[in-house]
Amino acid sequence: MDSTPRDGATRAGWGSRIGVILAAAGSAVGLGNFLRFPGQAAKHGGGAFMLPYFISLLVLGIPLAWAEWTMGRYAGVRGYHSAPGIFRVLLRHHAAKYLGVVALLIPFIVYTYYVVVEAWCLIYALHYATGDLMRGDDPGQYAAFFGRLTGATAEGSVFGGGDGLTLLGVVALCFALNLYLIVRGLSRGIEAFCKVAIPGLAVLATIVLVRVLLLGTPDPSKPSQSIEAGLGFMWNPRAEALFDPETWLAASGQIFFSLSVGFGVLVHYASYLRKKDDVALSALTANSMNELFEVCLGGLITIPAAFVFLGAIDPGTLESSFKLGFVTLPNVFAMMWGGRVFGFLWFFCLFIAAITSSVSMLQPVMVFFQEGTGMSRRRAAALLGVLCAVGSGIVLYFSKGLVALDTFDFWMGTVGIFVLATVQAVLYGWVFGIERGHEELHRGAHIKVPFVVQIGLKYVVPVYLLVIFAAFCVKNLP
Ligand code: PFF
Repeated sequence: MDSTPRDGATRAGWGSRIGVILAAAGSAVGLGNFLRFPGQAAKHGGGAFMLPYFISLLVLGIPLAWAEWTMGRYAGVRGYHSAPGIFRVLLRHHAAKYLGVVALLIPFIVYTYYVVVEAWCLIYALHYATGDLMRGDDPGQYAAFFGRLTGATAEGSVFGGGDGLTLLGVVALCFALNLYLIVRGLSRGIEAFCKVAIPGLAVLATIVLVRVLLLGTPDPSKPSQSIEAGLGFMWNPRAEALFDPETWLAASGQIFFSLSVGFGVLVHYASYLRKKDDVALSALTANSMNELFEVCLGGLITIPAAFVFLGAIDPGTLESSFKLGFVTLPNVFAMMWGGRVFGFLWFFCLFIAAITSSVSMLQPVMVFFQEGTGMSRRRAAALLGVLCAVGSGIVLYFSKGLVALDTFDFWMGTVGIFVLATVQAVLYGWVFGIERGHEELHRGAHIKVPFVVQIGLKYVVPVYLLVIFAAFCVKNLP
């Protein structure tokens, strides 16, 4: 494996500053904001979850994002864009490139299952568009549909036929869309798409939010089935959760997943910046946008809407944000005026949010094939196609009970990112150096970041991560 850059293979760059910010925000804003966050917050103490959540954002999320952007631009200016090359230039040791391979594997494996959920969203949106999902008023129909579609409950796997085969086709379609955006090149593909998708998403999700909040208490004789009750469940602080280490773990895990920090994606995006391009304000802006989507939209739609239908949520259901999103919410849309339109808008939003994220997981791998091996774009795309087919094929094959999806998510989406984030924090704080980091961060910066952030990155972040990870291991590993 040669991680030396080959000129031409990856000669690309961002078109504009707002474009980079929106592409990074596109990677961050995804299913994590709309499905994962509400489930996690409601499960771990509601309003109380927000304390560890914001501490993780300030202590881990934003500083690590700054570190990733800084290191990425530094390596990119020296001609390296894929993680093995980036890690090698930062560590100045040829063996470091093997570490970089981990930074490619993690987003790739997350992609293999993320794209399956992306496909569910598109299928739901299409079924709303055709009106299929609004026929009949049996509340059980959505659970049955979801089970058939995902193969989670049907006999056999998704390869067994019926809606499962549709899923297979739509996963392939989603892959083709992802690939199309990547092959068009960074600024004409991902950037151009995110420039339209992110503002569009903000508008559409706000429309759904307003509609959901207007549901109020549809049946005054059932006051518990109301938006107010849902908002209370989501946001009333249950203080005892603060003493449970699981809450802190969940909060930091959510920050990583949501900001796309620790996945090796931001470092890759930033490697296409020029020497004097701002990283400090850009990273902060992208993260702030993500938080707006997460707290103000994701946090106010799913759970409150679910209450209108259920009147309460069994905490066990929160284990699976999927059930809330794909079974409970369709029942809410079935009850509301204009439900077909809002159902379509909601699932279309999820699909758009998902695609701006999934594309960011594949792009580093594609660039690695070109940069690290000198492959042509076509060959790289073909190889990527084969790998994605195998990966998502495994997820689909073991879809009964969503086994593979859960396993991959546990090992990559949770364990893997803790490891990679720790590696990146140590690499930044102890090898790259915080003095150099501080200077690099401020090259071309539009804001001044206090030096205490660097000290935090060197000492607090690795310790915080290790403590959380140790607690996690004690709790989850046999
Ligand atoms: N941040 C995305 C979300 O909230 O859905 C998920 C994600 C994107 C994870 C990119 C990992 C990644 F590399």
